[in-house]
Amino acid sequence: MHDSNAEAAESIGPKILSAHDAPQSEDEVTRRKFMANATIAIGGLVGLALAVPIVGSLLPGKSSTEGSWSPLTAAELDALNKATSKPVKLTFTLKYVDGYLPEQSVPEYCWGIRVDNNQKFMAARPDIFAGGKADVPYAVVNMGFVLFSPICPHLGCYYGWSDAQNRFMCPCHGSQYTFDGTHIAGPAPRGLDPLPVRERSGIADVMWIIYQSNTPSRIVISYQA
Ligand code: FES
Repeated sequence: MHDSNAEAAESIGPKILSAHDAPQSEDEVTRRKFMANATIAIGGLVGLALAVPIVGSLLPGKSSTEGSWSPLTAAELDALNKATSKPVKLTFTLKYVDGYLPEQSVPEYCWGIRVDNNQKFMAARPDIFAGGKADVPYAVVNMGFVLFSPICPHLGCYYGWSDAQNRFMCPCHGSQYTFDGTHIAGPAPRGLDPLPVRERSGIADVMWIIYQSNTPSRIVISYQA
């Protein structure tokens, strides 16, 4: 009975060897190597596909490393051009992109002063022009005026202008600044921070920058609200 079964099996055709039958055969080793290499290659491709967007999301995008320009209103700019001894509050809409959220728009403002004498202004602000060179990478005085961030360099409160005191005053801890932004009282470690301003087709644009609070030097923290 057994012999007849073996003969029947042989009559069907030659037996196909499996890995179990010949684990160290050349064919099997080659096949295993191929499978191992294919697994590594596919894993690498999947990893790469995942890594590109993840790394991309961690890298600072354009919106976080470069400020965007916001136009100032023509009426306020006109007022600034006529102002001589008082600052002008200039409002604008700040637009920025935060991560994957849609573009955000928030109302903001800055303070503008007329500067008719650059040398005088530079002499009054050694905290900006140490050694005659500005500590910010843009022209501080442009179009005949300077724009100040409305954020107090002490701990970030919004300060205001006092007509009665003829100076900028911060309500939080009492820091005070002259018309040209010089720090004269209170705990702030530096004078008011200038913002970039440019002319574009007859109107002026301002760039929003948030600087590190409570440090003598200006360190950019953000170009967003
Ligand atoms: S935040 Fe302005 S004085 Fe402290």
